[in-house]
Amino acid sequence: MTLHRLREMRVKGEKITMLTCYDASFAHLLDRCELDCLLVGDSLGMVLQGQSSTVPVTLDEMAYHTRCVARGNRHAWLLSDLPFGSYQESLDQCMRSSVALMQAGAQMVKLEGGGWTTEAVHFLTQRGIPVCAHLGLTPQSVHALGGYRVQGRDADGAATLRQHARELSEAGATMLVLELVPTALAAEITEANPQLITVGIGAGNVTAAQVLVLHDMLGITAGKLPRFVRNFMQKDGGSVEQAVRLFVSEVKSGRFPDNATHGF
Ligand code: KIV
Repeated sequence: MTLHRLREMRVKGEKITMLTCYDASFAHLLDRCELDCLLVGDSLGMVLQGQSSTVPVTLDEMAYHTRCVARGNRHAWLLSDLPFGSYQESLDQCMRSSVALMQAGAQMVKLEGGGWTTEAVHFLTQRGIPVCAHLGLTPQSVHALGGYRVQGRDADGAATLRQHARELSEAGATMLVLELVPTALAAEITEANPQLITVGIGAGNVTAAQVLVLHDMLGITAGKLPRFVRNFMQKDGGSVEQAVRLFVSEVKSGRFPDNATHGF
């Protein structure tokens, strides 16, 4: 997979598939299922480490898991999360952290937030590092946001998200994760920013790509799943591979997510 091909898919309206991945074995398996993108998400703090948020995850941990995934992956586009505290301080710090992830095997780094991140996105992209931005519910700010709740529901919140998306696109971001955002707003942002490959998670069936946390869609995650997740193992998947193939075909055909069931 290349950025060129991902952009072409966006232009042609071909849905793009992405799952999180944290190790070489799953990278092998997901790659075999023709998934378009793998995200080494800092959700590994919760999924693998049992933390209550992504805040404790370190850059060394992200680099380690990125190296593991890169070894197992052959075809998928590989993104890696800049963890909390690894890019907020200065452009220098952001660059150094991004270099660590790129040298571990990432092809693109992801960072959370809008407004103050615009400068960093411009700085990185000018220096040859592709960037995925992340707006809406940004888990690294969960304490400031007051919990895992839908963002951009009121007029002011929606206007801020629209503005941040436009600024990130102008700064050179290629991808934009929209997490827990009303479907209508995700549709507006996707239409207004044709240069951005929007990636929805809890943002309805209107974005260019869809991402889920692997352990959520396999039903391994303990406790109640968020409303926007579908357990692909439960109903139709006889094996992990079948469940992932089902996710790919449901996203490609536009059947997942179903706005009525999974959207806001
Ligand atoms: O860390 C992660 O897994 C993510 C996705 C939920 C988009 O950021």
